[in-house]
Amino acid sequence: MSDAVDFTKQGAIGVITVNSPPVNALSAAVRDGLGAAFDKGQADPDVKAMVLLGGGRTFIAGADIREFGQPPKGKPFHEVLLAMENSTKLIVAAIHGTALGGGLETALCCHYRFAVPAALVGLPEVKLGLLPGAGGTQRLPRLVGAEKALDLITSGAFVPAPQAKEMGIVDEVGDDLLAGAVAFAETLVAENAPLRKIRDIPCEADAGLFDTYRKANARKFRGFLAPWKCIDCVEAATTLSFDEGIARERALFMECVTSPESAAQRHVFFAEREVAKIPDVPKDTPMKDIKKVAMIGAGTMGGGIAMNFANAGIPVIMLEVTQENLDKGMGIIQRNYQNTVNKGGLSQAKMDQRMALFSSTTDLADIGDADLVIEAVFEKMELKKEIFAKLDGVMKPGAILASNTSTLSIDEIASATKRPESVIGMHFFSPANVMRLLEVVRGAKSSPETIATAMGIGRKVGKISVLVGNCFGFVGNRMLHGYTGEGTFLLENGALPQQVDKAIFDFGLPMGPFAMGDMAGLDVGWLVRKARAADRPTNEEYGGTIPDRICELGRFGQKTAGGYYDYKEGDRTPIPNPEVQGIIEQVSKEKNIARREFSEEDIVKRCLYPLINIGAQILAEGMAMRPSDIDIIYINGYGFPAYRGGPMAWADAIGLENVLADIKRFHAEFGERWRPAPLLEKLVAEGKNFASLQAA
Ligand code: 3HC
Ligand code: NAI
Repeated sequence: MSDAVDFTKQGAIGVITVNSPPVNALSAAVRDGLGAAFDKGQADPDVKAMVLLGGGRTFIAGADIREFGQPPKGKPFHEVLLAMENSTKLIVAAIHGTALGGGLETALCCHYRFAVPAALVGLPEVKLGLLPGAGGTQRLPRLVGAEKALDLITSGAFVPAPQAKEMGIVDEVGDDLLAGAVAFAETLVAENAPLRKIRDIPCEADAGLFDTYRKANARKFRGFLAPWKCIDCVEAATTLSFDEGIARERALFMECVTSPESAAQRHVFFAEREVAKIPDVPKDTPMKDIKKVAMIGAGTMGGGIAMNFANAGIPVIMLEVTQENLDKGMGIIQRNYQNTVNKGGLSQAKMDQRMALFSSTTDLADIGDADLVIEAVFEKMELKKEIFAKLDGVMKPGAILASNTSTLSIDEIASATKRPESVIGMHFFSPANVMRLLEVVRGAKSSPETIATAMGIGRKVGKISVLVGNCFGFVGNRMLHGYTGEGTFLLENGALPQQVDKAIFDFGLPMGPFAMGDMAGLDVGWLVRKARAADRPTNEEYGGTIPDRICELGRFGQKTAGGYYDYKEGDRTPIPNPEVQGIIEQVSKEKNIARREFSEEDIVKRCLYPLINIGAQILAEGMAMRPSDIDIIYINGYGFPAYRGGPMAWADAIGLENVLADIKRFHAEFGERWRPAPLLEKLVAEGKNFASLQAA
């Protein structure tokens, strides 16, 4: 028997406990241990039935993701499952915590399932670019029907135990895990209950269900491999015999597990967990309890940011310069919630509860008792410093003073206070109540407690918090600048906005740089370019000529019915505009550039390789802690496709030597902005990749 699995007896019930912290993943040791434990139960004449449960905080959370891509070892999983399903003694799965992926598949090979009310079950393999490969695609449809199985398997949703019981996934829900499951097993034995095998349940579906499902979800699954394969497998459950279906599932699982998409999505899974780890801010750093938040500025960002806290049940006081601005800001918050209620996403009662958490004031003295204050006023250093100096005077000792600035120095803002250790950047992304990313910007003097609290409260309100350094644009926008900037150079070189946007959309981003610019508003960048004109490096070519001329026509994007594109009223579909094309061609002419054709591959490299090159500079400067943090920023803040793993993992997949060769070629042709990052050159010279920096 392995240490990972324990066998004991309670009367006539054999109790098999998996002890493989933290989540009882099905490692080789667990599989071997399970095999041996079931053999033991089978062989023991005193054992009438068995109960399988997880020790510690959870049932089995799935296959051991770290084993994928490694040479096989230990007992094959399907052999363990087959032995369980064919056991001549009844087996009950006793579920608490989460039964996920291979964990739920194990439970589905037991003859009955008992769960505590707080347990969750699901098949989340799709999020790892996989499909349930241990019978889940064949057994779940037999229990819940093909249509529900399609939803559960292609979304990877977690189902609470009571709902799982209604659906037929779980047979019994009760409070006491071990005692309840043992009692359930004893009752089943006493009643001479059959050894129920899900494989024996017939599985049928309406003709056309699967094609309808494929069509309905085409946009959602765009670029991903696994959801399509999940659908194929569930379809196979309705058209093939059980054994043939299992064979099909295994073949398609192999296709997924060896795919670049799954490698990328597995990288993202671990990256999402790494992001919370800060070497000099250990896990046990004390965090302040945030019971009340003050929001300065009820504009676009202030309103959205405040909603996050109200959604999490935390009271928020809004501060504005005038009552009129407060009313306007609160009106927008109210309308946002009302829209969600109207669409059925929120009950009226919940909306009322959330609205009741808001209060508002125009007097700074009223916010002094908040534990966290977030400033989101206009992007002007003098104004921000004035506000922070005042905050220093009114906020209670120990309060966290955060700025949502997108470009300004946190250290300079902190210098306006006598408590720079409590000052930090909390850079939310627009729309702030929707976007998952939060860049927490560490100032030179931000204390570990301030950092831990800002990261923690971000997670608490549903964000993915990433710690970044204090530099212009921080991480995400600094890199974005290279991406959007190169887009306009491509226009000068011969491309048109719609060609660039199509190539980027086809690569997997939700939209290209020009459609994005029109959505965000071109005036913002125009103002920044004008403000920074004096500091512009003289050895770099200016790429702003085309957007400047478009802005000079008053075309600021969707809000003015036109920018790079035209828009029909109430419709966000971009329509190419001949006048803009004229400007583009005129600028090429003035700069003596012979316009040429670009392939989609050229466009993708020109637009996205700046992310890699600037990302490498950011890493060398320590502005991001690790390459995978940059990947998380790009996936959650900018829509970079998860199935490509983020820009840094994508670069590793292409091969850094190949990326560097292209960057050198662009450097020779286009000059300084393409100078290869020294870190990139160093990694290539040493035969290493970005992933090699992770452990450091
Ligand atoms: N394999 C290996 N390691 C795993 C793991 C798994 N299946 N699940 C979690 N871990 C690790 C995490 O990486 C983390 O490690 P770290 O402490 O070194 O960073 C640790 O366990 C704790 O995980 P979390 O921080 O995520 O803990 P939470 O309590 O927040 O969440 C969880 C627990 C809900 C179980 C979450 O970890 C999770 O969703 N895990 C993945 C579940 C999953 O996708 N299962 C399917 C796997 S694929 C499969 O089963 C294929 C089969 O069909 C053949
Ligand atoms: P906005 O113009 O929509 O809102 C700013 C609000 O601050 C206005 O309502 C204004 O009345 C109020 N305000 C000004 N001075 C004030 C004072 N002294 N006291 C109280 N309120 C005051 O601006 P937006 O877009 O919300 O931006 C706010 C901040 O967020 C800026 O620093 C910006 O750089 C940053 N940011 C903006 C993003 C965006 O996409 N709009 C994204 C991320 C950060």
